[in-house]
Amino acid sequence: MPDIFADIIECLKFEARSAGGSACVSPEVLQELYADIIPGKGGTQTASQPSCPSDISPDLASLAAAVSSCKKCILCKERKNTVLGEGNPCAELMFIGEGPGRDEDLQGRPFVGAAGQLLTKMINAMQFAREEVYITNVVKCRPPGNRTPEESEAKACLPCLIRQVELIKPKVLVLLGAVPLLHLLGKKGITRLHGEWSEFMGIKTLPTFHPAYLLRSPSEKKHAWADLQKVMKEFGKTSPAKDRNT
Ligand code: URA
Repeated sequence: MPDIFADIIECLKFEARSAGGSACVSPEVLQELYADIIPGKGGTQTASQPSCPSDISPDLASLAAAVSSCKKCILCKERKNTVLGEGNPCAELMFIGEGPGRDEDLQGRPFVGAAGQLLTKMINAMQFAREEVYITNVVKCRPPGNRTPEESEAKACLPCLIRQVELIKPKVLVLLGAVPLLHLLGKKGITRLHGEWSEFMGIKTLPTFHPAYLLRSPSEKKHAWADLQKVMKEFGKTSPAKDRNT
């Protein structure tokens, strides 16, 4: 099954090469795109965070400290690590997933497993570097066996997510799958509602498919890509493949 996100990344690399590195692709994104072929350069999963004019990193650090000792729900019992989120504290684009899985629980970082690798490709295809955006989840502790978080668990974690959104103040939120759609927008039906704009805390919010679902149903990737292109438009970015009608 061809991977539309890998194809788009190849297109971006091609454009950057043809334009001598000065195409629509920013140096940060290029570094990530070429991380596989330029040893020691880029790297998609570094934890360093750029600072911004009103640096809220200390507030995020205190939130992380509070979360690390949180016992508001039973998810605290089996967690190895809490996973607050990571990325640019002044990100304009924020992704919200469901909750940490096994790899995330072990590393204390969001989206670092197979679904995370696909999410990074999706972000790169959108012409963003992973470090430019902020990535978090509805719940900050791993639900045992990767089950769906219970309503009470999502409710217990919601104030933390709200604080993250208040601090980071992104321009756009992307909800990954049915869980954030339900707990942030109170809506059911990701198949029907993906790609439809809503608002959460006054911020433009778009639900799309969860990368783990896309790994299981690769034929849906084209629909997710159509959703993500709507988000790109908000940032004045266009897909090179579309421009070239390929
Ligand atoms: N799935 C999620 O929803 N979040 C993660 O961090 C990893 C996998």
